[in-house]
Amino acid sequence: MEVLSNDLTEKKVFMETFGCQSNVLESNHVSSLLLKNQFSLTKQIEDADVILFNTCSIRQHAEDKVFSRLGQLADWKKEKEGRVVGVLGCMATSYKEHLMERAPHLDLVVGPDQYLKVPQVIREASQTGKSQVLADFDPVYFPENDTEHLSQPHKAFIEIMKGCDKFCTFCVVPFTRGREISRPSEDIVLETQKLAHAGVKEVMLLGQNVNSYGLGLKSKGNTITFAQLLREVARVDGIERVRFMTSHPLDLPDELIEVMATESAVCESIHLPVQCGSDRILKRMSRKYSVEHYLERVQKLRSSIKDLFITTDLIVGFPGESDEDFQGTMDLLDQVRYDAVYSFKYSPRVGTVAARMLDQVAEEAKDERLARLNEKAWKHAAEACASRLGKVEEVLVDGPADKTPGGFYGKSRQNRTVVFLGQGYQAGDVVKVKVDRHKVANLYGIVQP
Ligand code: 5AD
Ligand code: SF4
Repeated sequence: MEVLSNDLTEKKVFMETFGCQSNVLESNHVSSLLLKNQFSLTKQIEDADVILFNTCSIRQHAEDKVFSRLGQLADWKKEKEGRVVGVLGCMATSYKEHLMERAPHLDLVVGPDQYLKVPQVIREASQTGKSQVLADFDPVYFPENDTEHLSQPHKAFIEIMKGCDKFCTFCVVPFTRGREISRPSEDIVLETQKLAHAGVKEVMLLGQNVNSYGLGLKSKGNTITFAQLLREVARVDGIERVRFMTSHPLDLPDELIEVMATESAVCESIHLPVQCGSDRILKRMSRKYSVEHYLERVQKLRSSIKDLFITTDLIVGFPGESDEDFQGTMDLLDQVRYDAVYSFKYSPRVGTVAARMLDQVAEEAKDERLARLNEKAWKHAAEACASRLGKVEEVLVDGPADKTPGGFYGKSRQNRTVVFLGQGYQAGDVVKVKVDRHKVANLYGIVQP
């Protein structure tokens, strides 16, 4: 067996990220901690000494992918002394030490509130071969962007709260991410200022349900609402675009709509997960709003904010969903005509109320409903895209377009991908592009002088 030198500057870490934007943000955070601690990062798994998976538990499929990746590493681990395999993220907090039963070659299990310790525990695992599980929640810890190691020079995610207290009956998040905790607003504004100073133009404020931001801060004498925080962030010098996710439709207040309508830096875009279009199923999901309430909020948003881009999450095949319930979802799609829909088959999660419901829907029915739903959603998305033809989009450039030689791509204020031809553009440039065609959900156009 080859013996690894103890020189940690030679340790290369490969990290693969599954799941939501919070995981992307947290993987960036772990990467910058590793770089600060004399590790290097590699995108090639075959060059790595350390392999980390930042995992998601939201659906079974996401977990299966990780278990299969872990299984493939048993031999890799044996080939060279000092190699380390770690699981971060939601599977760390949901399975803890039980992950080692499924993958005995696993060295590290580290939950989202323990990432500051990642460099140290990798070092210990590599030197001693002992495994460690660190999965406790820590109410005061929030990952912050490191302006010296930004993953993109012009855009950043900012975590404003963590956890969730809503306990929708299908969702594992309250268990994997713990109780809802808001980060102090001064820290968020300060981080935004630092990012703006480093050249960042767009920030996305992240939380499981941003509309309940601030509830837990009241006991500390701080009564800021999410809408007020959004306004403060939008007014930071140098910040040109602000986005946020996710908003729960139950507590989307008029005050927030007002801030979206009046603050020029807040983009005309909202992700508003509805989950389904049947009151009966919404009740069983414990979403605590009706279809009528949801449609009223959409109507208010649309009438207050011109050209608003609305996206949603939908679950098909929740326990007890009948053909009639599903038809309610299809009707809702026709009423809202979303710009994009993220659709999922219901996946039972251990420990949740819905997983124990007796009337689970057959897999074939879920497949058939998902296909019908997606067909309608794509039609609406393409029509919404076509409505941009002839319009001039303000595009924040992300970089060269892979599939269009001589092309660049970026995002419109609504968050649509826009591709255009040109020379010498850099990430962070803002250009005006007149749209002359679209392909599925992407826009193509010509730069305006
Ligand atoms: N099965 C399927 N989809 C789920 N989601 C959350 N939990 C489940 C589950 N058990 C979806 C919801 C949520 C999105 C992030 O993931 O639509 O809004
Ligand atoms: Fe899950 Fe519901 Fe909380 Fe969203 S609001 S994270 S779906 S429990």
